[in-house]
Amino acid sequence: NWTMDDFIEMQIEKIRQEVGSRKVLLGLSGGVDSSVVGVLLHKAIGKQLTCIFVDHGLLRKGEAKQVMDSLVGKFGLNIIKVDAQKRFLDKLAGVSEPEKKRKIIGNEFIQVFNDEAIKLKDIDFLAQGTLYTDVIESGTDTAQTIKSHHNVGGLPKDMHFKLIEPLRTLFKDEARELGEKLGMPETLVWRQPFPGPGLGIRVIGEITPDKLKIVRDSDFILRDEIKKAGLMRDIWQYFTVLPGFRSVGVMGDGRTYDYTIGIRAVNSIDGMTADFARIPWDVLQKISVRIVNEVDHVNRVVYDITSKPPSTIEWE
Ligand code: XMP
Repeated sequence: NWTMDDFIEMQIEKIRQEVGSRKVLLGLSGGVDSSVVGVLLHKAIGKQLTCIFVDHGLLRKGEAKQVMDSLVGKFGLNIIKVDAQKRFLDKLAGVSEPEKKRKIIGNEFIQVFNDEAIKLKDIDFLAQGTLYTDVIESGTDTAQTIKSHHNVGGLPKDMHFKLIEPLRTLFKDEARELGEKLGMPETLVWRQPFPGPGLGIRVIGEITPDKLKIVRDSDFILRDEIKKAGLMRDIWQYFTVLPGFRSVGVMGDGRTYDYTIGIRAVNSIDGMTADFARIPWDVLQKISVRIVNEVDHVNRVVYDITSKPPSTIEWE
């Protein structure tokens, strides 16, 4: 029966033993898991850790800057940030099938990562923020055919790294607790889970820059209002989705024919099952009014009231 302090001590010792004076590479996604691994490794081996942060252009508003400000600014991690937005969007143009999109994003991610990793010399280890749930969900054939999670098994195959996965035995909440113990800021540690393919699976169907902007701007408003209402820690995951169809609305004297935004908010322990969150009506109203007023080409907001199963948390 270990405590988190024991865990940290044990892991640091284990990492130091294993790594010795060699070098470790870590792919940062901007999420809780890889950030926590980054800070843990940095604590254990300092400058022997190099991180690569691929900005695939599918991140949330302000996210890349926030990650860099915190991990580089506060913790002093050595991070190479790659701006690969165009590369990803070009590859995704014209693709609408969810699993194809996931594969393209996953493959491109590995390629961009490889392109950077190859430039680095003498790397022996690759660290990953794999959690216990990732291990289970990707461990069976069924899970893999339902959704391919690119953060597991997406290793650069032609590179001979040894894997370091210090969070492999932890659930999400434990990874958060670990982050807090390591002194990471609340905004990073209590960040909701965010899928590897990012906003790419929240624009349903084909991804275009215009649609990405709509989903990114509406997501920002949702997060802002949830924060103002003090509900950040009460809802496990919340985001907006752009289904892509248009419907009729009215504004001033005229009819509009614009997009619908879906709000998805769920409570869950580990993402395997989920219950839709009961966001208070008045908060939902504020969100709805702001999205329609502030985001161009949206004239309707709907709230997803299905649980998992039978729905999944994401819409793709
Ligand atoms: P679903 O939609 O399967 O989501 O109910 C369960 C949890 O997993 C996240 N998710 C993903 N994470 N790559 C990821 O890294 C993916 O392709 C992916 N698809 C879903 C989802 O956000 C939720 O937290």
